[in-house]
Amino acid sequence: MIHDPNKVYIFDTTLRDGEQVPGCQLDTNQKIVIAKSLEQLGVDVIEAGFPISSPGDFQSVVELSKVIKNTTICALTRAIKGDIDVAVDSLKHAKYPRIHTGIGSSDMHIKYKFNSTREKILERAVDAVKYAKQFVEDIEFYAEDAGRADNEFLAQMIEAVITAGATVVNIPDTNGYCMPEQYGSKILYLKENVKNIDQAIISVHCHNDLGLATANSMAGVLNGARQIECTINGIGERAGNTALEEVAMILKTHSLGLHTAINSKQLTEISGMVSRMMHMPVQPNKAIIGKNAFAHSSGIHQDGFLKHRENYEIINPEDVGLNSADIILTARSGRHALKHHLERLDYDIDKINIDDIYERFLVLADEKKDISDDDLLFLMSNGETESYK
Ligand code: KIV
Ligand code: ZN
Repeated sequence: MIHDPNKVYIFDTTLRDGEQVPGCQLDTNQKIVIAKSLEQLGVDVIEAGFPISSPGDFQSVVELSKVIKNTTICALTRAIKGDIDVAVDSLKHAKYPRIHTGIGSSDMHIKYKFNSTREKILERAVDAVKYAKQFVEDIEFYAEDAGRADNEFLAQMIEAVITAGATVVNIPDTNGYCMPEQYGSKILYLKENVKNIDQAIISVHCHNDLGLATANSMAGVLNGARQIECTINGIGERAGNTALEEVAMILKTHSLGLHTAINSKQLTEISGMVSRMMHMPVQPNKAIIGKNAFAHSSGIHQDGFLKHRENYEIINPEDVGLNSADIILTARSGRHALKHHLERLDYDIDKINIDDIYERFLVLADEKKDISDDDLLFLMSNGETESYK
């Protein structure tokens, strides 16, 4: 298959890595609703579950495979034949099926998780890919804990699994350990040292334990990765995964010559849907989709924003599906912001004694912290009603 070298594929794992978080569990119908929205959003791959893990997960992959026809449906397995058999079965209705199989790659995992050796792990990795390849063409291999793996061994493993038939190679920073420079160099090392690397797409899968998941994913992309594994709202194990909305908007905002198929105008809606269904509130200051992400509250910023929005706005809120930026009225707001809201409420600013109303506004804002439209109407009804247009 010929790939556009400038396209960054978006692999969404909200329904697998995200859904395994305690309290986030969904039933099959809810998964179908989210999967249809992900398909509409334009993700390239939906990781639908880990079929061997439970009958519910198996059934969800079956049902999603029946209804999603424009997006690849992926099922996770360990490097175990039994897992792969069940995953193949769960994907039988998928138009574009993918098996995501893999094994640990760091010495820590090899010794303390598998009680094994590099040689035996390499053999298991190759066998799993060869086995899965008999049933499904599109095979993604994950080298778990690659963030802490020795680069030379990792390169050996990646070369061997590509020879065995892997079409995508996932380099997970499973524990969110790396710093961007380290992770970026790891991807570059693989680009430069794996002989057959051009026969596969390099995928980044970063966890957020040090708050670096998005930065690491971008470092990977800048060094040659062309698939990002991520979740809506960054939900996932512990501190979560790379947030889909963040990488999508970074790639849209910066002129890197790269693009995704994400329809960013749907980001706010899908974020709210996932948050409600998975009982995972979004922090107000979360980038892109937090309640305050486009809210200007300090007087200096509000004034600058009202003079020219790009003074304080790097993303047009409409690009993520919001109507407009928010100018929040607080005791730190200036006259400019107050006038802006009064005009919005149809008051004729030229007929208002703004100094007087601003003084009374500050007293109220000190008391209430946040001033609503009702508060403004109340302030204006005290002697200024005739200025209402
Ligand atoms: O974090 C991780 O390593 C994973 C793999 C199973 C891909 O989620
Ligand atoms: Zn993960």
